[in-house]
Amino acid sequence: MNAVDVINKKRRGEALSTEEIEYMVMGFTNGVILDYQMSALLMAICLQGMTKEETVQLTRIMRDSGETVDLSEIRGIKVDKHSTGGVGDKTTLIVAPIAAACGVPIAKMSGRGLGFTGGTVDKMESIPGFVTSMERDAFIRSVNEIGIAVIGQTGHIAPADKKMYALRDVTGTTESISLITSSIMSKKLAAGADAIVLDVKCGSGAFMKTYEDARELAAWMVDIGRGNGKSMTAVISDMEQPLGNVVGNALEVREAIDVLSGGGPKDIRALSLRLAAEMILLGGRSGGDRAKAEAIALEALDSGAALEKFRQFVTNQGGDPRITVDQSLLGEAGFAVEVRAAADGYVTALDAMQVGLASQHAGAGREKKEDDIDMSAGIILAKKTGDEVRAGDLLCTVYGNNEAKVKTGAEEAHKAYSIGPDKPEQPALIKEIID
Ligand code: URA
Repeated sequence: MNAVDVINKKRRGEALSTEEIEYMVMGFTNGVILDYQMSALLMAICLQGMTKEETVQLTRIMRDSGETVDLSEIRGIKVDKHSTGGVGDKTTLIVAPIAAACGVPIAKMSGRGLGFTGGTVDKMESIPGFVTSMERDAFIRSVNEIGIAVIGQTGHIAPADKKMYALRDVTGTTESISLITSSIMSKKLAAGADAIVLDVKCGSGAFMKTYEDARELAAWMVDIGRGNGKSMTAVISDMEQPLGNVVGNALEVREAIDVLSGGGPKDIRALSLRLAAEMILLGGRSGGDRAKAEAIALEALDSGAALEKFRQFVTNQGGDPRITVDQSLLGEAGFAVEVRAAADGYVTALDAMQVGLASQHAGAGREKKEDDIDMSAGIILAKKTGDEVRAGDLLCTVYGNNEAKVKTGAEEAHKAYSIGPDKPEQPALIKEIID
């Protein structure tokens, strides 16, 4: 077998055999297949797709490329949550402490940013002192003692995904149902939770642009999870415009704290409560009653129990818990550029992908896999879809420590806004729950 034959076969749109997939994936993981060969195969998969059977095999091979975690020493039903990637999506930072405060053990591994979307690990690393890696025993002990630990995906879990993910991020090969399914599910199956809540994003700021594609992705992941003995729920949620009012690592931690403190934008609060309720339901904490799960989640948020759990979580992982009362500890950007409306009217669309790219180019994301992230970089949105504006009104402010990058980000952020005479309809935030 050789790599060029396999790449050519997929380029022609033919299904690969299990042996061919294994040859490429394990060869790449072991350094025999080179970056440029894997990039070519990933692009061919993006363009030609894979069958469900190829995707099942790809997921299995990626899962088995490393270690599988045994969480049986943790009491209770362990529930994981995973987003397919969005812009301004800081829900893990809110949902995990809510669910943990309600008695659902959270032993979670999260990822870094991918393409124009942010990643939880990068966000957590903007908290001074916060450590996103932990030895296995400390991880298990943390969950048994305080109910929550969230760490970065270690190199031992699905190492094939770790390498492929980094390559996809910088080769324009993120938007494929098969690659997303296998990437997410290989990690989730290896990470040992009993149940998984998926937040499948749909719209301009998601990898799946249409509802139909998002639904297909959700259905494939739910099927693969169930086929491997996991309880699964998928929530399909809107990502036409960014979630919440801020994008960028430290800025998103600030907004997560606002929500945990009882404030924050309505959309991020509502989606976080929905996802937390689904975790409480799968975690068996509401006797199978969805309405009761919602009430339990709401009580944890409104009583301050979730914020207290967040403080314990930050402290346990070496972070400074004073960030919950003094957000200036998260650092301030050196430069800010305001973006203003050129005309009167309504914001008829706020293109989430364009905002994600603007934030990435201002310094919040990577363009090459070795790039460092500027934790202070990002965007505060003053106006979102449906808001009325007058010429000269502030639309958003772009932040960062590199002036040239912030200016580029501001030019791009301007293009994200469409302004017209008529107030648009707001799309539903939560489109469907597949359970
Ligand atoms: N999240 C992942 O873990 N992998 C993807 O491919 C997309 C989102």
